[in-house]
Amino acid sequence: MLKHITKSSLQTKKIGEELAKKILKEGPKKKKAQVLALNGELGGGKTTFLQGFAKGIGVKKRILSPTFVIMKSFKIDSPSFNTFYHLDCYRIKKARELFILGFEEILSNPKNIIAIEWAERVQKLLPKNSKLITFKFYNKKEREIIIK
Ligand SMILES: Nc1ncnc2c1ncn2[C@@H]1O[C@H](COP(=O)(O)OP(=O)(O)O)[C@@H](O)[C@H]1O
Ligand SMILES: [Mg+2]
Repeated sequence: MLKHITKSSLQTKKIGEELAKKILKEGPKKKKAQVLALNGELGGGKTTFLQGFAKGIGVKKRILSPTFVIMKSFKIDSPSFNTFYHLDCYRIKKARELFILGFEEILSNPKNIIAIEWAERVQKLLPKNSKLITFKFYNKKEREIIIK
């Protein structure tokens, strides 16, 4: 478990970028996609963290909050991974709504990295070894980020 306190969105992005480097170094899992399960209140820094993470895994496009589209995909420029999926489950009421998006197939491909905001809403569909990342709002500029 790693606990960070960040004092700016830039620091939060840097932590995301570091985790990306670590995941690239570890390489793909054998059978499943690498899943990041992000939880914590609105404004906690989940999307900000993923902007740094996406940069770290070699996504060239800018990551925005996908709240209204639920899922977006980005090509990854790396030998070990192909695609980065960014999901936001804020509007999801039943975990199985993800099946409509082809979630099971995406999950079964080790070349995918999947980051899920509001992951607790779809918890039962996530692999046991997902990386859990929780965000706490301390004040206007400070956030606590715990990576498990
Ligand atoms: N230490 C910090 N870490 C991350 N974001 C911060 C921090 N301090 C201020 N912010 C601001 O808080 C907001 C976080 O929003 P966002 O990343 O969209 O959160 P979430 O996706 O969890 O709702 C942004 O406007 C960001 O600029
Ligand atoms: Mg967000």
